[in-house]
Amino acid sequence: TNMKVTKICCIGAGYVGGPTMAVIAQKCPDIEVTVVDLNAERIAAWNDKDINNIPIYEPGLGEIVGEARGRNLFFSTEVEKAIHEAQLIFISVNTPTKTYGSGKGMAADLKYIELCARQIARIAKDDKIVVEKSTLPVRTAEAIKSILNHTGNGVQFQILSNPEFLAEGTAVQDLLHPDRVLIGGETCEEGQKAIQTLVDIYAHWVPREKILTTNVWSSELSKLTANAFLAQRVSSINAISELCEKTGANVNEVARAIGMDSRIGPKFLKASVGFGGSCFQKDILNLVYICKSFGLVEVADYWEQVIIMNDHQKRRFGNNIVSTLYNTVADKKIAFLGWAFKKDTNDTRESAAIYIADDLVNEQANIAVYDPKVDADQVYADLDYLKTRNVEKNRKKVTVFEDPYETCHHAHAIAIMTEWDEFAAYDWQRIYDNMQKPAFVFDGRNLLDEAKLREIGFIYQSIGS
Ligand code: UDX
Ligand code: UDX
Ligand code: ADP
Repeated sequence: TNMKVTKICCIGAGYVGGPTMAVIAQKCPDIEVTVVDLNAERIAAWNDKDINNIPIYEPGLGEIVGEARGRNLFFSTEVEKAIHEAQLIFISVNTPTKTYGSGKGMAADLKYIELCARQIARIAKDDKIVVEKSTLPVRTAEAIKSILNHTGNGVQFQILSNPEFLAEGTAVQDLLHPDRVLIGGETCEEGQKAIQTLVDIYAHWVPREKILTTNVWSSELSKLTANAFLAQRVSSINAISELCEKTGANVNEVARAIGMDSRIGPKFLKASVGFGGSCFQKDILNLVYICKSFGLVEVADYWEQVIIMNDHQKRRFGNNIVSTLYNTVADKKIAFLGWAFKKDTNDTRESAAIYIADDLVNEQANIAVYDPKVDADQVYADLDYLKTRNVEKNRKKVTVFEDPYETCHHAHAIAIMTEWDEFAAYDWQRIYDNMQKPAFVFDGRNLLDEAKLREIGFIYQSIGS
């Protein structure tokens, strides 16, 4: 018989753990779901009476948390208690790229994962299923298993890989209606039972035929491969965008034309200022690192090129602003509309805006930032993290506004960094009237109405035309 799950614990109340557990709790009212985190501030925010204050902005998430919280969804800092009581434990902690030692800048830093595994090993008194939910390098499950199986207290652990494919900004919809759910487990009988236990949870709302089961390594590698393929499409269209700018072709037209080939498909062909987010770069670096560690030089180089292209796309966007503004942006006001790595999220991890702002501040520009969901603290934290200059200088050269019109007031140029819907709806005549002339717009998302902006008088440049 399968294990009867009455309590689930999720370690890590972040962009993945929070929304995923909220949906599980909503769909499985008979199961008590507790999300734990070391970060007390984050847990307090999840528990805030005002549902608008939960720490993650995702359309539709507030309603689901509001419905389930206090009923069978709990947020807590009592990590040990939750581990002790649960039959099923999700590990959803962050796995940043290593910033030190061997594999620096490439390999995933597994220290948080290892700490979790050791904590589970120490606390567990009965059999448990441990599910890796974070994006992890292939073979992490094996490492977790080896830590768990040396507790010597007779407790049986089954490790499953259940990668998350949700995209930020659409997390709730992706969780409610996933293309597929992937569960990897051991091929032995115990492993198959553990897989079935997790299948039964998802089957509360996901059609069975969309729940795939594989061995652990296929599951782990599928996650890295899916993200690598998606990122590769963005880098491919961005590469073509640069050629379009030289030849008079229009990248939007090219994307449309190739996307109608059913073998290629229309999605993920939007040329942009460069992809960001916590996953694409990290996962590809991981893939590259794994390939190199097996001596697969050509395979590693192939995927690394996706990142090289993305870095180039970000850099050339900034360089183009400088060269278009008569080769100097020193003390000119450049307004950034958008700081998040994509619309409908407050997440800024690896956002192109950070790197382009950093480059422009090196050129002594004054940057004015407006993002509907990102606050000033986050903008400064992102810049300070780069350690390009001291924190005072970042505050002197970068100003964060709460009003888009103020942001653009007296600006020499506007750069669209994120494709927030509201940007297209602004009163662009009003913005134009209050800018320095000539007034430039660099549309890093091909979001605005080109004809309208030109008619108003803007010098408008988009990506790939
Ligand atoms: C291709 C394009 O598909 C077609 O649209 C264009 O007009 C001409 O070039 P073709 O070369 O006839 O057509 O065959 P295609 O089916 O695309 O296959 C090309 C090569 O890729 C073959 O050697 C095929 O075996 C190989 N291939 C294709 C794979 O190895 N794996 C695949 O998944 C698909
Ligand atoms: C991604 C995967 O889509 C998701 O399945 C996985 O679980 C996590 O990583 P996410 O990073 O949240 O999700 O967002 P995604 O929509 O994939 O966008 C990533 C970046 O690519 C963004 O900066 C986005 O603006 C950019 N992008 C995406 C483009 O520039 N052009 C496109 O056509 C698509
Ligand atoms: P993701 O996008 O993968 O969800 P986040 O950084 O948003 O990543 O969330 C990961 C969360 O995991 C953070 O809130 C962090 O505090 C938490 N965390 C990391 N290590 C531990 C641990 N050992 N125990 C509990 N929580 C942890």
